[in-house]
Amino acid sequence: MDGLYIKKTEGISLEAGIESVGSLRLLAQAGGLEVMRQSILKGATVWITPAEDVETLEFFHILSGALEMKVDGSPQLLAAGDSFYVHGLRDELLIRARQSTELLYITNRPLFDSLFGFQDDLTNLLRQIDEKDHYTYAHSVHVMCYSAKILEQMALDGMDTATVSLDTLMVASLFHDIGKCFVPDDILKKRQPLTESEQRFIVRHPMDSARILKQRFDEKIVEIARNHHERLDGSGYPFGLIGDEISVEARMIGVADSFDAMTTDRGYNRQMSCLEAAEELYALKDRYDRRVTGALLTLARSGALEEIRKGDGSTRP
Ligand SMILES: [Fe+2]
Ligand SMILES: [Fe+2]
Repeated sequence: MDGLYIKKTEGISLEAGIESVGSLRLLAQAGGLEVMRQSILKGATVWITPAEDVETLEFFHILSGALEMKVDGSPQLLAAGDSFYVHGLRDELLIRARQSTELLYITNRPLFDSLFGFQDDLTNLLRQIDEKDHYTYAHSVHVMCYSAKILEQMALDGMDTATVSLDTLMVASLFHDIGKCFVPDDILKKRQPLTESEQRFIVRHPMDSARILKQRFDEKIVEIARNHHERLDGSGYPFGLIGDEISVEARMIGVADSFDAMTTDRGYNRQMSCLEAAEELYALKDRYDRRVTGALLTLARSGALEEIRKGDGSTRP
């Protein structure tokens, strides 16, 4: 019948998503309206960002599962049968799945096509890292998870994190080492200390990361990736920036990055416990921001980082 469109479950092919977070299936699309079915895996966090267009409406109906979101500082639990929508949203809305959750998602924000293409590109970038060196891939996922935890803890500690976008932080942390794709394999995978000339290849990777990310993302993400090895006292690279010249996001990723290197067994280093590494970073107050290492130390003491440390990059909280 003209004008009638039937979609059976087996017939739906368009799907976008990062496997360990969930997926999005397009059910219908017309007149600027998209109807989707969204799956969010248990424990995963997704976020809704404010739209530029004031007319944007995003409606969600929970088919199964349970979600938690923070509304004006207090947690709100939503279960199957509940629905919510955003219209004129001012701040990012963070949503965590308490259980694996299925949602019906209707929006007049043209999202699916751009998301589909965008995630395809990101998946390719991630695959490039994984094929080059699985350690770097797992490290990138760990740094993303640690950075998100640190941001959450800094907010809980009452620090002003309003200017830090979780979205930006996660993309920058996941791709901070993408420039290592240009480091020769024998140097990247070398388990002994590097010679001076080999070290020069490593030192340029933040610039290469920035160059690759510049083609896809805004300047903030590029800056964070470029500066993740800069240290407050000027001892970092590639520019030896000092103090306020380094953004808080780059400081956060710098801490998460060092923490992961210290707590991972790479054959030539002594693998530290989460608490040992956090204490050592906290003690290095000239190099690392104490607001960040303080949050890390709290997390390490509570045992909240163990699960991430044990993961091989295939699971993301
Ligand atoms: Fe790096
Ligand atoms: Fe790194």
